[in-house]
Amino acid sequence: MEKLNPTKRDNFGSKLGVVAAAAGSAIGLGNIWKFPYITGVYGGGAFLFVYLGFILAIGLPIMLSEFVIGRKGGRNPFGAFKKLAPNTPWKYVGLMGVAAAFMILSFYGVIAGWSIEYVIKSLGNQFHEKSPAELNTLFSTFQESTITPVLFQLLFMVATGAIVMIGIKKGIEKFSKILMPVLVLIIIILDVKALSLDGAAEGLRFLFYPDFSKLTSEGVLSALGHAFFTLSLGMGTIITYGSYINKKNNLIHTAIQVTVADTVIALLAGIAIFPAVFAFGIEEASGPGLVFITLPNVFELMPGGYFFSILFFVLLTIAALTSSISILEVAVSYFSEELKIKRRNATILATVLISFLGILCSLSMGIMKDVTFFDLNFFDLLDWISANMLLPLGGMFIALFTGWYLGRKKIKDEILHGGYISKFFLNGFLFLVKILAPVAIAVVFLHGIGLISF
Ligand code: TRP
Repeated sequence: MEKLNPTKRDNFGSKLGVVAAAAGSAIGLGNIWKFPYITGVYGGGAFLFVYLGFILAIGLPIMLSEFVIGRKGGRNPFGAFKKLAPNTPWKYVGLMGVAAAFMILSFYGVIAGWSIEYVIKSLGNQFHEKSPAELNTLFSTFQESTITPVLFQLLFMVATGAIVMIGIKKGIEKFSKILMPVLVLIIIILDVKALSLDGAAEGLRFLFYPDFSKLTSEGVLSALGHAFFTLSLGMGTIITYGSYINKKNNLIHTAIQVTVADTVIALLAGIAIFPAVFAFGIEEASGPGLVFITLPNVFELMPGGYFFSILFFVLLTIAALTSSISILEVAVSYFSEELKIKRRNATILATVLISFLGILCSLSMGIMKDVTFFDLNFFDLLDWISANMLLPLGGMFIALFTGWYLGRKKIKDEILHGGYISKFFLNGFLFLVKILAPVAIAVVFLHGIGLISF
């Protein structure tokens, strides 16, 4: 018998609390760091187009699926599958999610560490009167160094672990509600400035005009992987959060609100970055450093840029925190509820293990650059395996589980607590999760890794 009583678990206090926490999880470095950088690498508009299609046709229905599984299961992903599908191998989908959580958080912490470093650089007015080339050097010198990035990554991981240890409600809810709107405001201000730059038209054209000849199968797989990454899907984060949602919440509304907010913020970030990329002659395909070498140029030109840059990187770090706690939570809830390790110890254990992997990620930018696997350094390897492989596969299983195993009646019953769904939408949803999403994911995945081609 399960000793845990789900009704005794912490719940999100208010409606806004759920949306804010799930949005806090979804909105993070994925939107502001990763989206612009991979859009640059994979050629702009066509990539964006495919990515938006995946968000709508695959991301949104899978987010709803995760909410349904989570609230119905009332547990961590592994436990939720075990409860909803006893004595079946479905629980291993939950386990795969725990593995993905370890990988994602280890490189996530590195980028968040960069963001902290940029808070300090902003405070020290280090972007002042620097040319685009100098700002580029400022970034690459720092990123390749050995000690500082590791220290900031560890600092970020300690903060993440501490917040998770304090607990769901107090820790997570408070943070996300107030600060995310401020971040959005700053990005909008950056957009206005970016649109006034000389490169604005070219930047917007790059971002929005779909030139499909630039699209590769690897680009399509990355667009799919990123749709999962940015919405925090495919490894049980949203299942875990769903388990904290009370029965009065309208899951469909929540899923739509989170998806829309996440997508809008990614687009706003893109609109701030690409005009500047062209205005300052920065290489679009610069890779993971794109945001850090582009935006300081914009801050430099803005009235009040000194303060905006401090505020921006502080809030980016906090946005990263509200995401990283949701990743760590998956591992911690698994350790504590399934392996019966005390929550406190589980948090320490997971944080230490992930931080260690993170150190390797950080070093792989500099002194360990030449240690590669399949031509990828350690950082890119973890990013690639988790985002392009584990999340889409996890998402595929989550869709199949919802559509085929839970099935129509259970889905409907769960949604009807606090919500309403018409027959038309229910049928549409079932088609997406039973057939379209799994088939699309399988095709994109096999094509992306080169196992099939058309
Ligand atoms: N979605 C977050 C971002 O965009 C990162 C994140 C949080 C995540 N939880 C996740 C990614 C779960 C994948 C899976 O920054």
